[in-house]
Amino acid sequence: MVVRDAREVSGMQPDIDAAAAATAATGRDGGADTEVVIALRGVERVYRSGHLDYLALRGVDLTVDAGEMVAIAGPSGSGKSTVLNIMTGIDRPTSGSVTVGGRELDSMSEDELAVWRGEHVGIVFQFFQLLPTLTALENTMLPLDFARRGSVEERLTTANERLELVGLGDRVDRFPSELSGGEQQRVAIARAMACDPLLLVADEPTGNLDSETASAMLDVLQSVNRTGTTVVYVTHDVTLGARAGRVVTLRDGVVVDDGR
Ligand SMILES: Nc1ncnc2c1ncn2[C@@H]1O[C@H](COP(=O)(O)OP(=O)(O)OP(=O)(O)O)[C@@H](O)[C@H]1O
Ligand SMILES: [Mg+2]
Repeated sequence: MVVRDAREVSGMQPDIDAAAAATAATGRDGGADTEVVIALRGVERVYRSGHLDYLALRGVDLTVDAGEMVAIAGPSGSGKSTVLNIMTGIDRPTSGSVTVGGRELDSMSEDELAVWRGEHVGIVFQFFQLLPTLTALENTMLPLDFARRGSVEERLTTANERLELVGLGDRVDRFPSELSGGEQQRVAIARAMACDPLLLVADEPTGNLDSETASAMLDVLQSVNRTGTTVVYVTHDVTLGARAGRVVTLRDGVVVDDGR
């Protein structure tokens, strides 16, 4: 299959599509475990609807170190998704600064951000966003194809390795419709990991899964984290949050517990 544009791979908003699909990469930046990967400073986000302004984030300060596994928790509407989208440059703060992997996202253009995101961030969505006409292996290869990374043989090898990592080594030739919800989400994680991102983010990755499958999904995120990838995920569920090394709690657009 020839994909000319990242947004052909799913039915979501174009900017989200690009983020999901274009996980192209040149590899992790490396560095010591104490290296700061994410730094949000005084981040505010105002949503304007009609003549009303709504301050969704009211000065968020948050740092995440390389190799951490962080859960973002808090009630509905507290700003979890907004924080996650700001970390990946999908959304921009109204004020404050955002530095990820040493890059100041605020100073980058949309095009620069899209390229940067493709190289350094893997994103997992609640609704998997797999292409139904491609097998698990082909879905996992997509970001490598976009990045034209390596030869086709190398892409196949990498995609197979990522599917092994998420425990689907024996199901690489299945189509999404032939996989359970939990397995589809694991393919989505394998795809997000295809290009060896610095940072893997997931917004409610277990929101559509029963509790047992959700717990197995956290096992997968933990094994991804053990490979050295920084993982940040949003969850409502206290038990699933506790599986992270650190839980950051938001309330009304501020960090009320930094988890450190
Ligand atoms: N595009 C938008 N326009 C106006 N308000 C918005 C918009 N997006 C989010 N908000 C508001 O900003 C606040 C934070 O939203 P956000 O989606 O970050 O919350 P959340 O913690 O992820 O909630 P949930 O757990 O329900 O997903 C909410 O009060 C929401 O209504
Ligand atoms: Mg949300």
